[in-house]
Parts: sequence; C-alpha cells; structure tokens
Amino acid sequence: MKINIAIDGPSASGKSTVAKQLCSILNYVHLDTGAMYRCVALEVKRKNIDIEDVESIVEMLNSTKIQLTTDGKVYLNDEDVTDIIRTNEISLLASDVSTIKEVREHLVALQQKMAQDKGFIMDGRDIGTVVLPDAELKIYLTASVEARAKRRYLENKERGLESNLQTLKNEILERDYQDTHRKYSPLKQATDAVVVDSTEMDKDDVVNYILELVKDKI
Ligand code: DC
Repeated sequence: MKINIAIDGPSASGKSTVAKQLCSILNYVHLDTGAMYRCVALEVKRKNIDIEDVESIVEMLNSTKIQLTTDGKVYLNDEDVTDIIRTNEISLLASDVSTIKEVREHLVALQQKMAQDKGFIMDGRDIGTVVLPDAELKIYLTASVEARAKRRYLENKERGLESNLQTLKNEILERDYQDTHRKYSPLKQATDAVVVDSTEMDKDDVVNYILELVKDKI
C-alpha cells in the first residue's frame, strides 16, 4: 500500500534531499513545490514584470507551462531550468512571488492535480496545511539557522561555488521571516505533523527516522 507524505519546513532544512532519498527507497514520486515558485520567479524576472503588477503576473501564469519530471528535472515552457532556478536571487524572488494570493492559488491547483493518486512525497511550506491536508504522513522538518546555513555553505562548496556563511545565514533568516509572516498560507506546522529537528542529525538519520514512521502507517 502507498500513502502520500507531506514534508514542510523552513528554507535549507533538507526537505528536498530527504524527499529524494525517501522516494528512491520507497519507489515514490517526488514533487518539489518550491521549484514551481522558483519557475514563476524566473519568468517574472525574465519578463521584467513588476512584483506589484498582479494582473500581468496572472496573465503570465496562464501562458506558462511548468513541469517536474520523475528524474528531478524542472522545465519552464519546455526549457530545462533545473540549475538556473537555484541562484540566491531567484530564491529571494521566489519567496516574494509566493506571497501573492493568485500565484499560490494557481500553483496549489496544479500541485493537487499532480498528486491525485498515492505514492507522492511533496515538499514545500503549505503541503500538510493546504495542498494535501489528507496526507497520511506529515513531517515538519527543521534545524537551527546555523546548521542550515552551514549545510548550504558546504553544498555550494561542493558545487564549486564560493559563499559567505554570514551572508547565507542572513538570507535564510530573511526568507524564514517572509515565509512565516506572509498573509496567505504562511509556513506553519500542521497540527498533526511530526516535527523532526535535524540540527544534530545527518541526512541518513532523518531518512531512517521517517522510514520508521512510514512503516507504522502502512
Ligand atoms: O523550497 P524552496 O526554497 O525551493 O522554495 C522557494 C520559495 O518558495 C520559498 O521561499 C517559499 C516558497 N514556497 C512556498 O511558499 N510554498 C511552497 N509550497 C513551496 C515554496
């Protein structure tokens, strides 16, 4: 039997990494909803649309195609944007566009359509609360800001990117503030979510812990 799993939590808490590993063990499909907000941000930037101009953003959304493939690729209007949506600039702009009610409604409808069946692991900010309120297992994955900044720093280093730990920490704090204080579907823990604080855990510890929770459910 397959279930649906919602993983929410703040930026850089390891949601996507953990979701990917769980999917390969369980043979589930990963839906990274943050990538969809990032695609909207990239298109807003490319089309030079003012973030306050909601009418133009809605028009743009209606003519924009976003696809997530099972092998983890992200396509925006058939272009592979998997890597270019990961810059700091797009991270912050994604957080900005995610405050717009019309953007959220559009993407939530797409996400719900994508996960009509079972066997999905969806990660984001509002999955357990809004997108999949009936998910059989809900995880709220978090870690201290220091631990999250350090992981991002090491990740960047591995990819050959120079970054500054303090700058990363500030950016994470800025996104945390915006994502938890926005008016529409702010990041918050679902009442029935299991909180996993990974500050002192490595990736495998988190994956194994969640696998035990999955076993209990099925
Ligand atoms: O998970 P991420 O860092 O790739 O997400 C980028 C931004 O998108 C994040 O700052 C908040 C927003 N987001 C959201 O509001 N709701 C989601 N379900 C996923 C992401």
